[in-house]
Amino acid sequence: MKKKVLLLAVVASFIIVGISGLVMASGHGSGPTWRSAISPMVDAKCAMCHGDHAPEVNEWKLLGDERRTVGPRMNTYPHFMSFVVWPETGALMRRLDDGSASGGDPGNMYQYLGSDNQERTKNLQTIKTWLGEGAWNLNRFDARGDTPGISKEQLTKIKAPY
Ligand code: HEC
Repeated sequence: MKKKVLLLAVVASFIIVGISGLVMASGHGSGPTWRSAISPMVDAKCAMCHGDHAPEVNEWKLLGDERRTVGPRMNTYPHFMSFVVWPETGALMRRLDDGSASGGDPGNMYQYLGSDNQERTKNLQTIKTWLGEGAWNLNRFDARGDTPGISKEQLTKIKAPY
């Protein structure tokens, strides 16, 4: 009888460890993910101009003056990441910065992060947390003027969990 109880306890503890491992792996209780936080934000704040019908970034770059009035597509993880990593390295950060990284005016997409300052600040912070500590870099892939191109070390900071 005692052996049975012991066996049950061992089996139960294996199950508990297994379940908590699964919960941790699925990201519950940790930081924002694309699925939990960023995708819903993009759908609510950006997709009217950067949604399903918007041209993929390389198509968008072929447009002439129309590029000023049409936005490129950003509403899936790979579309979105092309404005973080490549080819549009840092475009997301340059356009959404509130002026604190650039030392100048906010980027021209910052206004869309929320209807008031509080919502904009909160959503910007969520994106920064999601990208990862040290990942908010405005550099392009190649150097421009005095600004160096992005480094491997800076790129390594990008976490952006799916
Ligand atoms: C009302 C329409 C509209 C909304 C809403 C909007 N955008 Fe844009 N966005 C544009 C247009 C048009 C362009 C292209 C013109 C330009 O470069 O400013 C653009 C350009 C961009 C670019 C630059 C792409 C590149 O490669 O240079 C980024 C990044 C961007 N938007 C991000 C966002 C994000 C993130 C949101 C939501 C928080 C958002 N935008 C909301 C219209 C919009």
